[in-house]
Amino acid sequence: MYPNSFEAPAVPHSDAVPHSDAVPHSDATRPSDSERTGILEAVGRTPLVKLEKIARDHQIQVYAKLEGLNPGGSAKDRPSRLIIEHALASGRIDPDIGVVESSSGNMGIGMAQACAYYGVPFICVVDDTITDQNRALIGAYNARIEMVEFANNSAESRLERRLRRVRELLAAQPGLYWPNQYSCIFNPHAHRQTMQEIWSELPAVDYIICAVGTCGTIKGISDYITTHSLATKVIAVDAVGSVIFGGQPRPRAVIGHGASIRPVLASQVAPSRIVKISDLEAVIGCRILAAREALLGGGSSGAVISALLEVAPDLPSDSVCVVILPDRGERYLNTIYSDKWVDARIASISVVRYLMGEALR
Ligand SMILES: Cc1ncc(COP(=O)(O)O)c(C=O)c1O
Repeated sequence: MYPNSFEAPAVPHSDAVPHSDAVPHSDATRPSDSERTGILEAVGRTPLVKLEKIARDHQIQVYAKLEGLNPGGSAKDRPSRLIIEHALASGRIDPDIGVVESSSGNMGIGMAQACAYYGVPFICVVDDTITDQNRALIGAYNARIEMVEFANNSAESRLERRLRRVRELLAAQPGLYWPNQYSCIFNPHAHRQTMQEIWSELPAVDYIICAVGTCGTIKGISDYITTHSLATKVIAVDAVGSVIFGGQPRPRAVIGHGASIRPVLASQVAPSRIVKISDLEAVIGCRILAAREALLGGGSSGAVISALLEVAPDLPSDSVCVVILPDRGERYLNTIYSDKWVDARIASISVVRYLMGEALR
């Protein structure tokens, strides 16, 4: 049926999502390691590791879910796989025409990988904030990159401009499939599995600390918690200048989390606390994580770590906290981990060094 002859798994022929325990690729239905075929079988089951040093000044236990160890390098591999497999099985994708999605980052890479695996053409609509590395990665999976032009004095945000281009492409090419990660139910649904994995290893989690963009991760995790009546509280980590939970859009230099348009899924989550982290705090969080735990995280991981350290004094003693780290630091070597970039775009590097010194004392 598909060009490379791999069969898509059987899933319902509608967008109706099976409820409660019907988590995609759950451990009950997944093949064992020796039976796994193809790179997409390596999506999920990411390591959960205890971090003993990151919050050593606080009486809490911290575990990190290392989503950057998914095969495409981020948490977005989960929804990418589920969306593409479901759309193939339900006939929504015409394998000769393919798929379009708007993303300058991890979703573009995850979708490019899933589409490449099934031999489906993929158009990734990006803007000029895309890093050279992400652009090269998406291209390496044979996706077509569609760069939108963006005027600095435009009333449209970059995201709005990209979505307009997606609509133009859909109008020009009937049959082209647009999952729309901002409203697609399979985006959050894929992350029920993330929480199932955490819960199966750590039955008593008091707090999950999770960055937000489309709100897919936080909604999937929250839905699983609700379905299973868990006592776990969810803390959302947004960016200063993002409008996800209100406020006015402001330019942001650290990419990954945050959004300039309120995503549909934002109204479907009720975090126990929302922490807004500035670009500077996200950079410091990344660098503290690298210094204390030898763990290179992306910008949103740094934001999550800064949020953890901000809320830690308010948490009851011995609270068990899980931080979701969405991707790895390698994609940010020329930005967050470059003193030159930080000095030019975020804050004087001497200020950053001073703050780091204070934090690491
Ligand atoms: C690095 C990174 N962190 C956080 C997020 C936010 O995740 P979500 O879209 O599930 O809210 C994204 C989304 O693309 C991301 O790429």
